[in-house]
Amino acid sequence: MVAVAPRADAQERAAPLRPFMKWVGGKRRVVPHLLGHVARPLGRYFEPFVGGGAFFWALADEPAQRQREDKWAVITDVNHRLVRTYKGIRDDVEGIAERLAILRDGHCKEQYYDVRATDVDAHRKDADVAAWMIYLNRTGFNGLYRVNKKGGFNVPIGNYTNPLILDGPTLRACSKALATVDIEHGHYQDVFFKAEKGDTVYFDPPYVPISSTASFTSYTRDGFGPDDQIALRDLAWELKRRGVQVILSNHDVPEVRELYADFDIKQILVGRAINSKASKRGRVAEVIIT
Ligand SMILES: C[S@@+](CC[C@H](N)C(=O)[O-])C[C@H]1O[C@@H](n2cnc3c(N)ncnc32)[C@H](O)[C@@H]1O
Repeated sequence: MVAVAPRADAQERAAPLRPFMKWVGGKRRVVPHLLGHVARPLGRYFEPFVGGGAFFWALADEPAQRQREDKWAVITDVNHRLVRTYKGIRDDVEGIAERLAILRDGHCKEQYYDVRATDVDAHRKDADVAAWMIYLNRTGFNGLYRVNKKGGFNVPIGNYTNPLILDGPTLRACSKALATVDIEHGHYQDVFFKAEKGDTVYFDPPYVPISSTASFTSYTRDGFGPDDQIALRDLAWELKRRGVQVILSNHDVPEVRELYADFDIKQILVGRAINSKASKRGRVAEVIIT
């Protein structure tokens, strides 16, 4: 018999909205800079590379958005397990809490590797996928999401003494907030057919590497290469011409400055929390492009 905390509405309302998972490239430290670039009142909001959604959650946490009953946001990612996780949290947060409570109580190295080896895509319920993702994210090395060519998750266990596997208040607050959000599995280019005048789009793509041994014309990261960076820039122009407010972030490197020469570019210095090498956790120059 597993003890699950009762649903606590007061606690749920009080819990701030924030990412329920760590995500490499997460924008928590950039959020204060980004907030100043968003037009108010916010129309519809699109985040096509949502990942952990740090900026999306900051906007969702504002009283104006918390009170909205329309579908005010569309979040999209190509990672189908991540998208199923968002859907699971929206549609069956209590089911996920139950699964995570079991995983929390049984947490050990052997369990981690058993869960990791599960064929999660064979599960029909989004709640199964969500519990799998969150458990591995909270207990795996540095919260990394990394898969082999066959899609098998291959991150080793992390070195945590007491990982927070079930954060009920955050999950329940996120679940409630997702009721007014469209969650889509897809390619970032899909936003071209959806965003209209007055909407806001924030693009946070896989970044151009800071220093790459390969040249800009040949590197690829996360399957997102130079051609994608150019196509993204062109899409940003098209949306801008349509009257959509476009905000992008990327590393402050010459390739990015050249690509976005006709946009407004602002440099910010950001502390990096997630890097497997402690020596690389310093401050990094990024740009906010509008
Ligand atoms: C830099 S991360 C976004 C981080 C996010 N802003 C956060 O705060 O956690 C980039 C995300 O884009 C997704 N992605 C990569 N290529 C994509 C594509 N072609 N279309 C949509 N999403 C893509 C990845 O799965 C990843 O979640």
